[in-house]
Amino acid sequence: MHWSHSFYERQDALTGCYHSPIHPFHTALAARITAHRGRAGSLLELGAGGGQFATCAALLGHQVTALDLRARAGEQTRSLAVQHGVTVQTLTGDFYTLDPGGPFDTVCYWDGFGIGEDADQRFLLSRIARWLAPGGTAYVEVDTPWYWAGHAGFTQRTEGYTRTYGFDAEGCRMLDTYAPTDEDPFTQSLRCYSPADLRLLLPGTGLTLAEVWPGGSYDPEAGVYHPEVSLGEAMTFAAVLTPA
Ligand SMILES: C[S@@+](CC[C@H](N)C(=O)[O-])C[C@H]1O[C@@H](n2cnc3c(N)ncnc32)[C@H](O)[C@@H]1O
Repeated sequence: MHWSHSFYERQDALTGCYHSPIHPFHTALAARITAHRGRAGSLLELGAGGGQFATCAALLGHQVTALDLRARAGEQTRSLAVQHGVTVQTLTGDFYTLDPGGPFDTVCYWDGFGIGEDADQRFLLSRIARWLAPGGTAYVEVDTPWYWAGHAGFTQRTEGYTRTYGFDAEGCRMLDTYAPTDEDPFTQSLRCYSPADLRLLLPGTGLTLAEVWPGGSYDPEAGVYHPEVSLGEAMTFAAVLTPA
């Protein structure tokens, strides 16, 4: 079984990270996307996790479909949406194989791109291009090589587990390993791309890189997250992708 089919379920069981309430960050991100699109519309979120962004987008009037591999993610998303008085349609399945319907005015994928090899990213990007309605836009969060190379070695210790970051320089992948006290360790490995690297992936996918929005940066020494930094310092960037 591919690591991604167990990592996020085990991470959630260990940390409860997908069960968190909406953070102002999610509200701001949904507002930014809505402003960029000009109005609310049909929106597909891939790897939607606990549904925090999906719920914020629904609160702004989008008709949201939240797709995730894990049934528990769908349950969390529906429950969060109900708490906030909105409806989010959830789909449980694999975004490499499932047909989510559509077309969608907007497709979003936050925190998760880069799971497989370059060919897998190209395949997913091609699918995203086909799910977009004419004039649609996709927003895909991409990990940067520079941040994760510098973050390698950072370790967090809690009562139940140790979390350690690494970097595979040959494969240009960030590595994120949980070592629970009483179980085998498990690792997430995400391919990192600069915007220039991403542009090399795009020909033939039906998408073009229209804009690059730098994300934030976590300073491990100060224990502080800076939401707005320059691209050269950012952990991630949002690739704004439009039909080629
Ligand atoms: C790091 S989490 C991010 C969750 C959410 N986007 C967020 O920002 O909080 C990645 C999510 O992608 C989902 N995922 C991973 N591979 C997937 C696949 N092939 N199809 C659908 N969902 C997938 C995982 O189950 C997990 O919930």
